[in-house]
Amino acid sequence: MSILFTPITIGSVTVPNRFVRSATHDYMADDAGNVTDRQIQLYSRLAEGEVGLIITGHANVQPSGKASPRQTGVFDDRFVEGLARIPAAVHQFPSRVFLQIAHAGRQTKEKLCGCVPVSPSAVYDPVSKLMPRELADDEIRLLIADFVSAGGRAKRAGFAGIQLHAAHGYLLSSFLSPHTNRRADEWGGPLENRARVVLEILRGVKAACGRDYPVIVKLNSTDFLEGGLTLEDAVRMARMLEAGGIDAIEVSGGMAEAGRGSVWAGLRSEAEEGYFVDNAARIKAAVRVPVFGLGGIRTLAAAERIVESGRADLISMSRPLIRDPFLVKHFREGAASRSACISCNKCFNPRGISCAELKK
Ligand SMILES: Cc1cc2nc3c(=O)[nH]c(=O)nc-3n(C[C@H](O)[C@H](O)[C@H](O)COP(=O)(O)O)c2cc1C
Ligand code: SF4
Repeated sequence: MSILFTPITIGSVTVPNRFVRSATHDYMADDAGNVTDRQIQLYSRLAEGEVGLIITGHANVQPSGKASPRQTGVFDDRFVEGLARIPAAVHQFPSRVFLQIAHAGRQTKEKLCGCVPVSPSAVYDPVSKLMPRELADDEIRLLIADFVSAGGRAKRAGFAGIQLHAAHGYLLSSFLSPHTNRRADEWGGPLENRARVVLEILRGVKAACGRDYPVIVKLNSTDFLEGGLTLEDAVRMARMLEAGGIDAIEVSGGMAEAGRGSVWAGLRSEAEEGYFVDNAARIKAAVRVPVFGLGGIRTLAAAERIVESGRADLISMSRPLIRDPFLVKHFREGAASRSACISCNKCFNPRGISCAELKK
């Protein structure tokens, strides 16, 4: 049997195979951030389709952290009841589901988040064309507390674990990046200081939810930006996270203003599949916790090669599972050996993610 269909443990949780649905914002919550029937249907199909670990789209831990329309909220206890419907649906299957918790930082707009977007430092964002407001020390402490509260809500809702979104230029990744974090206090400067927010959140969630409640991270491995986060920093960061008790690391990269984000368009040759896997392999060599390989993985053969060669322990995919939520089952049954996704990026549909190619 292929290694891809063997189980693996992430902290205290057993995942039935090596396939991960990478966090994917679905534009399907209601306008207030509540979970809807459409989302329950989406997650049930992914579980029925045998995705081992499903990571939800990013849920915002503060109202100011809302990145997109119809984003799921986790910033108040009132969301717990609705959120609980997701694990209740998914955990009827062997699949496990983690909630991704996030704050948009400066990558949002006033009309979405209801305030001047915030950032570790006031560094102009050429994509949203705004100058964010620098967070005060007490606001950073509140941010940590709100991430920890969100983790507690995820646990109460029945999620098998959480993922901290520390990638793609959102707030946690902008603390890690020397480009967006130019602070001279305990939250900025050397990596130990830039990492403090993420490490404090990790410590807080583990204290609140118990050491065995799985906390994983999606980590930028590079910002692709002069003066931004480097792979060397990311490798050190991974070691710090491991020492802090992180249960797994999903390796991503990119930042909108670098002109090179995380969702690369265009089909790649099989040799080019897994555009962040080289970085994942570097991080995997430095830690013992499971590492997820990511980025344009489309074929069963490439997925198998990545795990068998020890470059990553799990395979994350987003767009292929928008194209076909049953892809993993089809792989297992031998009904498919590659995703039909052509990486055209037309699935970013504000009325709800869907594959535009299928509608043609
Ligand atoms: C519609 C869409 C929404 C996404 N939303 C998120 C998100 O909420 N959080 C996140 O970490 N990444 C998000 N991503 C990035 C994916 O998780 C993934 O890292 C990226 O698409 C590369 O994987 P792929 O080539 O398999 O699609 C999103 C991607 C797409 C296409
Ligand atoms: S629209 Fe369909 S084919 Fe295009 S990237 Fe999205 S899932 Fe893939």
